[in-house]
Amino acid sequence: KMRLDKYLCEAGLGTRSQVKKLLKSGVVAVNGRTVLRPEQKLSETDRVEVSGKEISVSEFEYWMLNKPDGYVSATEDRTFPTVLELLPEGARGDLFPVGRLDRDTEGLLLLTNDGKLAHFLLSPRRHVDKVYYARIRGEITEAHVKAFEEGLDIGDEKRTLPAVLEILPKSREKDAGASEWESRESEDCTPEAEPEIRVTLREGRYHQVKRMFEAVGCRVMYLKRLSMGSLRLDETLAPGEARPLTEEEVKVLKEETGC
Ligand code: URA
Repeated sequence: KMRLDKYLCEAGLGTRSQVKKLLKSGVVAVNGRTVLRPEQKLSETDRVEVSGKEISVSEFEYWMLNKPDGYVSATEDRTFPTVLELLPEGARGDLFPVGRLDRDTEGLLLLTNDGKLAHFLLSPRRHVDKVYYARIRGEITEAHVKAFEEGLDIGDEKRTLPAVLEILPKSREKDAGASEWESRESEDCTPEAEPEIRVTLREGRYHQVKRMFEAVGCRVMYLKRLSMGSLRLDETLAPGEARPLTEEEVKVLKEETGC
């Protein structure tokens, strides 16, 4: 049984305090009767109307977050803020991140309460490609491209699966349509000292990108996820911003994972 105010929040009618005002104004009815009390409990079969219009809470929500540096991919943490704190107040309370990005990694993170889709996206058997942009300390050559292609020993029982490493052009003028290869010049490093790369992984081991570069004697200085399967980071989202996935994005993700 859920409280009426919580239900209205989850249906996207506003924050807890906005919903309280809505209730006070007498426009909310449960089974045809006006209800003013936010704490009223609802059962599965209750019909909720706002200004005569029936509302419902969708069972599943899917959010795309452009994760910023400094947030942990968890639902709670004692020390650091979590990615859940970046979602708008109206978002459901049972969302969780699908997989993890390191605290200092930015970019695409999916949050949902759809356990089945999360499982399908993370399952090694059904895996989807994950593409990352990175800036590296150390020289990156064709030999590295080959080493990534062959799979690397990163200290796990098994070598990594083949990964596609692309060295991005040094030019500050990027190719058209390559805006995701964003460059951020850090204060103490010239761009020349930090080659830019794109890497496509077929699996998602702990710290995998960083460990793959360590295995070839380099260091990841900045890491950002650009895509997960067909789902690409919406570059109009500033770091820390989130938006719900479109119906089409959800449909395609489900199709490609077989969910
Ligand atoms: N690989 C890493 O090393 N870190 C991430 O956050 C994601 C992939």
